[in-house]
Amino acid sequence: MAIDGPAASGKSSTAQWVAGQLGFRHVDSGALYRAATGAAIRTGVPSAEWTPDFVLEQAQRVALEPRQTSFAPRIDGADVTEEIRGPAVTGCVALVAQMPMIRSWVNARVRDVATHFDVVVDGRDMGTAVFPDADLKVFLVADPWERARRRLVQRLGRRPTDDEIADETELLVRRDAADATQTVQARDAILVDTTALTQTEQVDRIVALARAALRTLREGVDGGS
Ligand code: DC
Repeated sequence: MAIDGPAASGKSSTAQWVAGQLGFRHVDSGALYRAATGAAIRTGVPSAEWTPDFVLEQAQRVALEPRQTSFAPRIDGADVTEEIRGPAVTGCVALVAQMPMIRSWVNARVRDVATHFDVVVDGRDMGTAVFPDADLKVFLVADPWERARRRLVQRLGRRPTDDEIADETELLVRRDAADATQTVQARDAILVDTTALTQTEQVDRIVALARAALRTLREGVDGGS
């Protein structure tokens, strides 16, 4: 199952919850771009000097460790879940995500995991470039203002002011532009606009869609036997 959408659309948290409810595992493809970026940062070589070959070499130090309902990103064996969410990685990851060699590397890692486990994969292009035959494709969208507000509530743990939301909205819109070429809605994806949905409503809706897709699959198998 593939969940795609722009930054801060709630893809990862939704994918994590949905995977938990279905007994699947969540794969966060953005975490692989981030971990490859983190591995390059750890060398101390400034990002202006990174070539695709150099980043790909560093990416070989990245592994995904299976957990009960997810995979933990590791660099040289160390868990980097926190490190890859920091400002250093966030500031350089769009550069790395634009390198075709790194895109192929991420796509191969994600496909490899999906051959061994039932997965909910989230990213920008999972339903197009990586799993064109996914059993269910969802494309999540929400107003930039609302995405910015949710991100700030999570980060600050309080209600943000309108000025704070406006600043964050501007950053988000800039990030959307940086990621625009690789953010692609598959023609057969189901569009879910979460602007007016709570987290629970959003997860319930996608779990219901996933259960319907699984029923259809089973009927297809039964009908064919
Ligand atoms: O979703 P995120 O913020 O963790 O993504 C990190 C970066 O990786 C961001 O620049 C978008 C990019 N990305 C991508 O190009 N394709 C994906 N499938 C996932 C993430």
